[in-house]
Amino acid sequence: VQQVNQLRHLSDLAREVAPIQGATDLRDLYAALARSVRQTLNVDGCLVSVWDRERNALVDMAASVMPPYRLNTLTQQFSLTDFPAMSEVLKKGKSLEVSVSDPEAHPAEIEFLRQMKVRRALYCRMMADGEVIGTVESYRIEDRPFRKDDFRQVDLLVGFAASAYSRIKLAERLEGHYMTTIEAMVNALEARDPGTVSHTGRIRDLAVSLAVAIKLPAELRHAIKLGALLHDVGKIGISDSILGKPGALTDAEWVQMRCHPEIGVRMLQGIEFLQPSVPIIRHHHEFWNGAGYPDGLAGEDIPIGARIVSVCDAYDAMTSDRAYRKAMSRDDACAEIDRGAGTQFDPGCARLLVKLIQSMGEVDNLEERFVRYAN
Ligand SMILES: [Fe+2]
Repeated sequence: VQQVNQLRHLSDLAREVAPIQGATDLRDLYAALARSVRQTLNVDGCLVSVWDRERNALVDMAASVMPPYRLNTLTQQFSLTDFPAMSEVLKKGKSLEVSVSDPEAHPAEIEFLRQMKVRRALYCRMMADGEVIGTVESYRIEDRPFRKDDFRQVDLLVGFAASAYSRIKLAERLEGHYMTTIEAMVNALEARDPGTVSHTGRIRDLAVSLAVAIKLPAELRHAIKLGALLHDVGKIGISDSILGKPGALTDAEWVQMRCHPEIGVRMLQGIEFLQPSVPIIRHHHEFWNGAGYPDGLAGEDIPIGARIVSVCDAYDAMTSDRAYRKAMSRDDACAEIDRGAGTQFDPGCARLLVKLIQSMGEVDNLEERFVRYAN
């Protein structure tokens, strides 16, 4: 019986470990870790937080919860000077159990548990490549102690996450080399049109947040990130007199302007790692109702990445100052996006973008401010 139990245990573990090993970016990895720890320990919530060395703070990155338990979806930051027990865990690496009924627990830690509406927590440290990455926090609504086995299982899962972390970091370093090339292209474009400086960066942040909210897979999110940065790269091939024209364009000028998606596609032909982003660049001016360009695609025939970039591009254009008009307020721009839902924009994407903007406040670093839910 014991052997059968051990085998079952092993196959359960293998199932929990697979998403950790399969993660292709750090946010996915943290989410997979939060979920597997929560399921393996059968706790109400698990939070993965990363240590910000400079500020000596913990920043929540991913969460997995057992309904009806709920956590805030906005990234929280906690200064570690306020939490001595958690600091100890980060410094020494020894896992720590905290309970609201423990008379020796630090008042700040107990107050924190009360705010989280839980009675017991297990804090563990995550390391990779000899460096402290952050913590894995497991929460129980009931004040029920953790078993020795729980400690061991978290350690094991964190160990798997650590090797995935090293692999992802290496891939990111390689990616950094080609990102330099992409940035050079984007800078060349923005230099032509000073009104659009940092425009592409903002659209990328919005588009990636939307892709995360729709729970698109990591490869597609990556294609959207690059596609959002490069969506207008074909404008490099549009003449200055059109690009910089302060007033309305003539019909003939519009014909030229409307070539920029296809010019972009031609520019990026043959660059293999950008191929998943090419459909986004080609179709970012298509309309949901089929009235857009260059191909007049409609509805879900338009690639999802292009639908996302289209609505983010429109929002960002409306909320930016241009030579010929002032920026619209956030609320007016959201109303405008709402009006275009179902005609210009994918209604699902439009609604989600408005919701995201209204719940998140400012648009800067949206992705960083968003705790990823694993379930
Ligand atoms: Fe465009």
